[in-house]
Amino acid sequence: MRVFVISGAGISAESGIPTFRGQNGYWRNLDPAKLATTEAFQRDPKLVWAWYRERRQRIRAAQPNAAHKALVDLAEHARAFLLVTQNVDDLHARAGLPPEKMVQIHGDIFETRCSRCNWRAEHDYEHEHETIPACPKCGALMRPGVVWFGEMLDSRKIDIVENYLGAGACDLVLVIGTTALFGYISDWAGRAQGGRGRLIEINPEETALSRFATERIREPAAVALPNLVQNLHCRGRC
Ligand code: APR
Repeated sequence: MRVFVISGAGISAESGIPTFRGQNGYWRNLDPAKLATTEAFQRDPKLVWAWYRERRQRIRAAQPNAAHKALVDLAEHARAFLLVTQNVDDLHARAGLPPEKMVQIHGDIFETRCSRCNWRAEHDYEHEHETIPACPKCGALMRPGVVWFGEMLDSRKIDIVENYLGAGACDLVLVIGTTALFGYISDWAGRAQGGRGRLIEINPEETALSRFATERIREPAAVALPNLVQNLHCRGRC
């Protein structure tokens, strides 16, 4: 079976990581959509770094849940598998999903890179609480290695997704825990399904993508995914 999966913040919700647009998405009464921008960083880099440092700490303390683990199981049994996650956390990786089966399309929160040149710090680099790190090469401010609103996606990551989609339509497409607000997300899901495969949405709420899904599972991911993967195994469909 050829499988394509898209995940969003909802898959990590049951690990205790707040979603962006959910009830707990606000931080110190601030809207994440306004913090995750180059403008916010230029205006108040200390504030933006404080938000990312807190999120890093919360993610380090969190554990992958049953949904992350079920995807690892599915990836092991599928003939071909690619996950595109919008999540910058490392819970898919820590659940055991191999790096070559995954694209973090919005970057990696544990990466720290220069806001001007291409210098990157060691992965997992942490700096003093009150300081903002400066690039040792050019002196500009360092920033988290994530994609902010209005920024371009990494073209090498797009190529990985395009190559996978170009190699054939998928039998199974899962869209898990995302509001699917970005055009490229629903576009990739639709193209992967190619008008013939199953496109299953796993999300307790209706989204922009719901009407394109062939099946909708209105349950939390950590409940729905282990059942779904178990069912696929029982029917020998992987
Ligand atoms: N299981 C499955 N889905 C869930 C769960 C759960 N336990 N809890 C919440 N959800 C769903 C919500 O119904 C919602 O549709 O997860 C979705 C979370 O949506 P967002 O917070 O908008 O997150 P996401 O779609 O990943 O955001 C996309 O926007 O803010 C930017 O770059 C950021 O990557 C992020 C992108």
